[in-house]
Amino acid sequence: MNKLLKYILVSGLAFISLFNMQCISRQVAPTTKNSAVSLISLKGTDIYNGLRGQSFNDGWKFYEGDVNEGQISSFDDSSWEDITLPHDWSIFNPIRLDSPASSHGGYMDGGVGWYRKTFTVPTDYKNKKVFINFDGAYMNSQVWINGNLLGNRPYGYSSFQYDLTPYLVYGGKNLIAVRINNNLPTSRWYSGSGIYRNVWLTVLNKTHVDYCGMFVTTPNVSNSSATLNIKTKIANQSDVSRSVTLKTTILDESGNTVISNTSLPITINASNNNTFNQDLTISNPRLWSPASPYLYMAKTQVMVDGSIVDTYQSTLGLRYFDFDANEGFSLNGVKMKINGVCNHHDLGALGAAVNYRAIERQLEILKAMGCNALRTAHNPPDPQVLEVCDRLGIMVMDEAFDVWETGKNNLNDYHLYFNEWAQADIQAMVLRDRNHPSVIMWSIGNEIQRPSITTATKLRDWVKDIDTTRPVTWACNSLNGRTEQAISNILDIVGHNYFPERYNSLHEKYPEWKMIGSETSSAVRSRGIYKTPTNQKIVRDSDYQCSSYDNSVGGTSTAETSYRDINSRSFMSGEFIWTGFDYIGETYPYQWPSKSSYFGIIDTSGFPKDIYYFYQSRWTTEPMVHILPHWNWPSGQTVEVWTYTNCDSVELFLNGVSQGVKTVGDSLHLAWDVPWTQGTILAKGIKGDTVVYDKMTSAGSAAKVKLKPDRTSLTADGKDLVFVEVDITDSNGVLVPNATNSVNFSVSGPGTIVGVDNGNSPTSEPYKANSRKAFSGKCLVIVQTAKTPGSIVVTADSKGLSSSSVKIVSIGDKAIPTLTR
Ligand code: GAL
Repeated sequence: MNKLLKYILVSGLAFISLFNMQCISRQVAPTTKNSAVSLISLKGTDIYNGLRGQSFNDGWKFYEGDVNEGQISSFDDSSWEDITLPHDWSIFNPIRLDSPASSHGGYMDGGVGWYRKTFTVPTDYKNKKVFINFDGAYMNSQVWINGNLLGNRPYGYSSFQYDLTPYLVYGGKNLIAVRINNNLPTSRWYSGSGIYRNVWLTVLNKTHVDYCGMFVTTPNVSNSSATLNIKTKIANQSDVSRSVTLKTTILDESGNTVISNTSLPITINASNNNTFNQDLTISNPRLWSPASPYLYMAKTQVMVDGSIVDTYQSTLGLRYFDFDANEGFSLNGVKMKINGVCNHHDLGALGAAVNYRAIERQLEILKAMGCNALRTAHNPPDPQVLEVCDRLGIMVMDEAFDVWETGKNNLNDYHLYFNEWAQADIQAMVLRDRNHPSVIMWSIGNEIQRPSITTATKLRDWVKDIDTTRPVTWACNSLNGRTEQAISNILDIVGHNYFPERYNSLHEKYPEWKMIGSETSSAVRSRGIYKTPTNQKIVRDSDYQCSSYDNSVGGTSTAETSYRDINSRSFMSGEFIWTGFDYIGETYPYQWPSKSSYFGIIDTSGFPKDIYYFYQSRWTTEPMVHILPHWNWPSGQTVEVWTYTNCDSVELFLNGVSQGVKTVGDSLHLAWDVPWTQGTILAKGIKGDTVVYDKMTSAGSAAKVKLKPDRTSLTADGKDLVFVEVDITDSNGVLVPNATNSVNFSVSGPGTIVGVDNGNSPTSEPYKANSRKAFSGKCLVIVQTAKTPGSIVVTADSKGLSSSSVKIVSIGDKAIPTLTR
């Protein structure tokens, strides 16, 4: 077994055992089974470019503001801040009313910033090609090497590469300088500012696989056999012709060779390239699906004169799927609904700065809800998102744009660059993401203003120039328009944003359309806040909060209604709910002091709201019951008690006295009116032979701080994170549901606090701090490991309460796999 696969196996097993420890729902274990996770983990790598990059994240200097000639090597940057990428400077800025970010961007400034990095290039790189890869820089980046401008990239969500080779000083010092200009507001949500994704240095021999140059497709897949076609573009950037042979091997999850193919030698002339075409067949393949996301690896070795000059590796998943105009979606021949969510890219208190563990945690929480799909609203995601989706089994709608030629809300958004850059940006997305089994469709845009058929056709064709194996869709909220219908006619799938009343009429008018709810519901709620009467829509209130009884909706639908709208129609392939996680910005239905969204099923801290369990009750089968609201009310008040369940029946007990048995019928929640008395309200769910419980107990006054780390063993790689959930409890350990106590955090050992949060929108408390108030009894501290192993102790104190500490072990770094070449 080579070292890479050994690493994959070990870390995958470690992941599974950690995953089992996570408890998302009270009393209810996550429904994700061990089998629903692939063993292949490529934590924090450049899998999209063959696993060839070396991390280039360390040792940068940063300055927030503009400077003259910051690209010149002799420029004095000694007073600039030392930082490690990925870096988002906006999240460090105060949340202030007059920030140009406005409510769209969560009131944190952007503007201009500069980055510089000095590095030494060894003499033996003289015979190599040296590239720099940016997974994303927001936005309007300009990049220089040793004072030479390499290029600019307006779209902050695209990945791009520059060739450094002609400008390098071999055996000496070199300087990369990057200027970012985020002239806010530039997106309708929080974008973050800076080099917020990973950067790689890719050093290759002159004959190598081109950038993202291997494309694996699966023309025929069944349970008995899978035919693969692998096209690999080899660039010969040397000044002599080369006779090149490719050896391509498919490895299973344990690193065993499944099959391999060695090409005939082909001569590639100097400064030329050739695309190799290899066909391989796997017998009795293990297919990829959300229930069993089995991954293979495809590995190509490029050989010249008998020596391996490049090795390119890619994950590979074998699956087939179909969208049918009447029957909806099926995967590997099995009909299923796409039970998805839309997400923006920020990671709560970490802002836009990507972090593998933070991404993985978000997707694990969604997966445990039964979510099987993600829409990357409204831009190409960080590549690590797709790596985790491959491994956890989450299907993806990969989306390119929120605007085409016409901007939205007078923002300095991408419409300014669309004409010049759309082709480069959409093709960069498809080229980069086309080997991910998780990606099942490309979206060319969201709610496009004044769309034209000409532009839609161009975008579709630019996608199909690179990948014809996946359908192309768009997410449209104006499907009653003639142009919109004409555009939908030329696309493979029609994405409905809202307006469920159009589902039937458009299905009748266009019986050939394959349709999906690309965006649904848009209900809003605040964790732990309940507003009555539950049968009335309450959108706004004086406390700047929304209700967790699924009754805060404006012009759109409750979670229950939109679920029915999709699931009562076999021709609807599924839905993507707006949104999985709350995000910073887009503060609807409020403005200042609200600074983050209310749409999330899960808040910005990663704490599920009650509606999480509604989706879990519909999307999973392992017996569960969830009860709401909390049990601290004034004496004599009649409280509407709800449960979400997938059980056959639920019996409710107040202090041991039955309040009656109910079964899920017309309503997708069960409700009882219960006159409140202090004590415990308990729901007992029965499904076949299985009994599950959930309960709420009246809390006394706040007495203690309780800490719950999501993991107790971390990697000492300077990146790994522990998310410590903080509960304010009474002396018996019961959560105090309205507690707002302020909690101070301290850390000893090799770890640092990198963010605090509580999911409360209307507060301008900073995300980068050592203290946080609780909201609905809870807050969060995020601690990052150093590169030194050791014990990290996180302590939380709150005035008048007994404090608490938790110990986490940070062990040696095995994060970056060593490649055998
Ligand atoms: C949609 C839009 C999303 C978000 C949502 C809020 O129309 O596509 O980006 O703004 O509304 O309800």
